[in-house]
Amino acid sequence: MNQSFDGLEQRPGTEERRERALTVGLSLDNRDRELVYEHLEELALLADTAGADVVDEIVQSRSAPDAATWIGKGKAEHVKAVAEELNADLIIVDDDLTPAQARNLERIIERRVIDRSGLILDIFARRARSSEARTQVELAQLNYLLPRLAGAWTHLERQRGGIGLRGPGETQLETDRRLVRTRIRQLKLELDRITRRQQTRRSKRDELFKVALVGYTNAGKSTLLNQLTGAGVLVEDRLFATLDATVRRLRLPGGAECLLADTVGFIRKLPHHLVASFRSTLIEAADADLLLHITDLANPYWQQQLETVREVLQDLGAGDTPVVHVFNKVDLVEDPAVFAAARQHEPALFVSATRELRLDELLEHISQHEKKGQRTYTLLVPHARYDLVASLRRVARVLDESASEEGYVVRTVLAMDDGGKFLEELKKAGCRTQ
Ligand code: GTP
Repeated sequence: MNQSFDGLEQRPGTEERRERALTVGLSLDNRDRELVYEHLEELALLADTAGADVVDEIVQSRSAPDAATWIGKGKAEHVKAVAEELNADLIIVDDDLTPAQARNLERIIERRVIDRSGLILDIFARRARSSEARTQVELAQLNYLLPRLAGAWTHLERQRGGIGLRGPGETQLETDRRLVRTRIRQLKLELDRITRRQQTRRSKRDELFKVALVGYTNAGKSTLLNQLTGAGVLVEDRLFATLDATVRRLRLPGGAECLLADTVGFIRKLPHHLVASFRSTLIEAADADLLLHITDLANPYWQQQLETVREVLQDLGAGDTPVVHVFNKVDLVEDPAVFAAARQHEPALFVSATRELRLDELLEHISQHEKKGQRTYTLLVPHARYDLVASLRRVARVLDESASEEGYVVRTVLAMDDGGKFLEELKKAGCRTQ
């Protein structure tokens, strides 16, 4: 019977053959050695989630990555020897490789070599449930595959001695590339359709205060969503259990309602092209009126994780959205210094989602933000009052605007700290909310 990373035994019959992996990290001039090992630890968790056991890890120090082989050639030979000795099936490297580097390493080591992006994509592919997540993952996978197609054929060439293969191989390669490009175009169109459908759905719930749970993978976002709303979202001690945004209504202490969205977990070195491909899922975060930034305070690397999440939020254009820091899993934390360090991030709340500790305080906090926070409205402004569109642009954030037969349709974010007076004035002037 297999033993998985977190010590849970797998049920008989459900186990697939777990692969044996060797992880490799690069430390530039030995400066960041500790950090490289920390990253490898995380890589091992990712590997575990993808169904591989890490049998050893190797770190090389160099002044810069080798253009052809990432690690030096000699080190690559060493990796090959270790892989042979430990009977490893594949090599996982902690950075992104160029297609040529991956190919060269595979040639030397004579085993499959995958990089961090490839590994994360594999996990995403297993996790994707909705048609949107599947479309996004397939798109990201094909974009990843396209420049690597040439490599696949080079290997085939080598295996068959290359005789007589070059011509047909090249033709086949061109056909494959064309097929992949066509599929990429189809997927993009499909994703556009899904995004438009979502926009309609989103604008329908505009007037509700929108709260998004964001945070590093495994921080406890889904658990919190379940505890607060009884949503029944999958919770697993695995990375990226959630790939689809789940949105639920939440009743607040004062009786008001808001929307609470769970989002895909963030991770260090999440390749930018992957963030881009998940933009429509992450839009829940970018579109929110309030972000609950969940951090697993029991994780020894919580500070770096918090920074990573902050950076991704900036990338998404959500850097200015109000944030409440929710430090989770306090049931596992004893060190007062950890709490003191966390308090530097304001406003900070300390909760345990599983033990339901201080969740009422969290609700109270959301409620206060809901009362004075901003809301997104879709307004129909009469044709004769274009001046109102201009003043909206001046005093509020306009998300998008278009002209319709009935007037101008403006999606805008209005602050409610005036008790909704500005909105009232707009309505008196003939605007309607949609
Ligand atoms: P991703 O889907 O990977 O982004 O994860 P997530 O942030 O949604 O985390 P999830 O809710 O799936 O929880 C991850 C693990 O942490 C699960 O095993 C939870 O049971 C556990 N967990 C969540 N909250 C707490 C807590 O307050 N205390 C403890 N001890 N464990 C918790």
